[in-house]
Amino acid sequence: MTPFAYRGGELCVEEVPLATLAERFGTPLYVYSANRIRDRIRAFKRAFADLPVRFCYAVKANPHLAVLRIVAQEGVGADTVSGGEIERALAAGIAAERIVFAGVAKTDEEIRLGIEAGILQFNVESPGELERIAALAAALGRVAPVALRVNPDIAAPTHGKIATGRRGDKFGIPLGEVPALFARARALSTVDLVGLHFHIGSQITALAPLVSAWERARDLLLDLRRSGLPVQRLDLGGGFGVRYRDEEPPMPEALAREVRRLFDGLEVELIFEPGRAFVADAGVLLARVIERKESAGLRFLIVDAGMHTLLRPALYDAFHAIVPVKEPAAADERLVFDVVGPICESSDVLGRNRLLPPLDAGALVAILTVGAYGATMATDYNSRPRPAELLVDGSRVAVIRKRREPRELFADELVPDWLSGPGGAGGDVP
Ligand SMILES: Cc1ncc(COP(=O)(O)O)c(C=O)c1O
Repeated sequence: MTPFAYRGGELCVEEVPLATLAERFGTPLYVYSANRIRDRIRAFKRAFADLPVRFCYAVKANPHLAVLRIVAQEGVGADTVSGGEIERALAAGIAAERIVFAGVAKTDEEIRLGIEAGILQFNVESPGELERIAALAAALGRVAPVALRVNPDIAAPTHGKIATGRRGDKFGIPLGEVPALFARARALSTVDLVGLHFHIGSQITALAPLVSAWERARDLLLDLRRSGLPVQRLDLGGGFGVRYRDEEPPMPEALAREVRRLFDGLEVELIFEPGRAFVADAGVLLARVIERKESAGLRFLIVDAGMHTLLRPALYDAFHAIVPVKEPAAADERLVFDVVGPICESSDVLGRNRLLPPLDAGALVAILTVGAYGATMATDYNSRPRPAELLVDGSRVAVIRKRREPRELFADELVPDWLSGPGGAGGDVP
């Protein structure tokens, strides 16, 4: 059940008509449903309730403190990929012992932060990183919990730019090198080797590639155990897909069934790191039509949101449904439009060949399923301020990020003294 539905001819979020929010807070505007986030988290927790599983929400999907606060209240941990994400998670009330930390470029400073905070585990991406963690832990007089991130050489059937588990991707340690590194880690007295980590990509809508990765994880665990190398924890990553168009991603129950089949009786703790699956369909982006235009036989609907507010279509050819906020009547005319933004790049297309009513300037559209990898990738490119963000919780509405004024965008820029003379040719050149 989506929290975004037409009521009385108006698209609403929970109990609130979106048009009233656009009127009050302007556009482009991200709007999130708190209850949808809770529902998604609870659906996963319910399905896995009988399994030794903990969830660590992938902060990168939507790192807003208010979102993280909901995650914390639901008893879910955090999967982080930077010191900044660790600090956010802690600030939102997620306990350090529920935080995992992955990423190929952890700096010494970030590693120190994780050790001092007492995070659950570092997901180690290279032999060099393992040695650095051990040395930094030694310097701090601590023991750092680590898991080795494995590159299982599985090509997840998703967009190439969000597949992470193929040979040649920068992530993880090649499967064949894991046993030796595992043995090396066991020999280091300032790391506590707790297990293995796998994450093969994002927006995976089929069960089979996930199961392949999990089988590989189980086989590796059994091999290592047979060689006397104990694995107590498997972090199996995130990547669970959502419906953007007509995908049929596996339900949490189907995922749990496979997990039960593969890991029952193995006495291993499991972690999953969903990001998108918790928050994607809890968000919409409201945009206003600026112009309608025909050119070279194409019709363009030009709106005030674009690749600066939602990068996924330009970056990953991602599809997001776009619907009018005022419900069209069944008999209303519909025409094919390319919905484009204001940015001076030809890649600034939010959706091609969309069947929409010929909306006039000032009309509102909603771009759906933008709660994950939406606002977090927004920029101020073309000096267009990033959108405001709202959280709706039943009938309550809160601004969770204010829109900045264009002048604020350059308020922290500094012009060197030597450029402060009169304008025009010359300056202080002799
Ligand atoms: C290590 C890791 N875990 C979890 C995720 C979350 O993925 P998703 O949002 O598809 O669940 C990512 C994202 O790519 C990731 O890199």
